Amino acid sequence: MNQNEILKNILTRRSIRNYTNQQVSEADLQTILEAAVNAPSGMNYQTWHFTAIQNSEKLADLNKHIKGAFAKSEDKHLQDRGNNDSYCCYYHAPTLIIVSNDPSQWWAPMDCACAMQNMFLMATALGIGSCWINQLGTTCDDEDVRAFITSLGVPANHRVYGCVALGYSPENTTLKAKTIKEGLITIVE
Ligand SMILES: Cc1cc2nc3c(=O)[nH]c(=O)nc-3n(C[C@H](O)[C@H](O)[C@H](O)COP(=O)(O)O)c2cc1C
Repeated sequence: MNQNEILKNILTRRSIRNYTNQQVSEADLQTILEAAVNAPSGMNYQTWHFTAIQNSEKLADLNKHIKGAFAKSEDKHLQDRGNNDSYCCYYHAPTLIIVSNDPSQWWAPMDCACAMQNMFLMATALGIGSCWINQLGTTCDDEDVRAFITSLGVPANHRVYGCVALGYSPENTTLKAKTIKEGLITIVE
């Protein structure tokens, strides 16, 4: 297999779910956000928004609002999460980037996914761990959650399509080997 630098970076990226308190530097955060805004977007409309939070109290509040929305759910699994004191949807990462977009644009979710993958790969290149965090995607229209994310700067007309957790994993963290399924590719000649 061709082991060029980009492929090496792609193969090295893994979802990290355990973080130390070490904060991502302002310079690294800016680099990761630069990677985000340079992703492709449908018609190059760039209707997305990136709300980066590095304040641990605001992150804890966000988690509390998300859990509040889960607790109201009719789904027992979500209710349990909402009522679980130790549940933290962003794994206590020191930085979380909320990725939102105008849902009236058909390509809004695809644009956000492209920007998120750019951020994951940029973080990997900088030695920073990352993970897609989905829980705000399903709760952003809960009234309390919406009021809180609006106060953080998420545009009122936007839906959240995902969040990027960023931080450093503890030393000697071992990652489970990843198996790629068979039969995923067809090449027509
Ligand atoms: C659309 C999407 C949503 C995801 N949501 C979450 C999530 O909410 N929490 C989480 O821990 N991982 C989440 N993940 C990460 C996947 O679980 C992970 O990518 C997958 O298990 C493969 O592992 P890898 O990223 O280490 O290659 C999500 C990934 C994608 C693409």
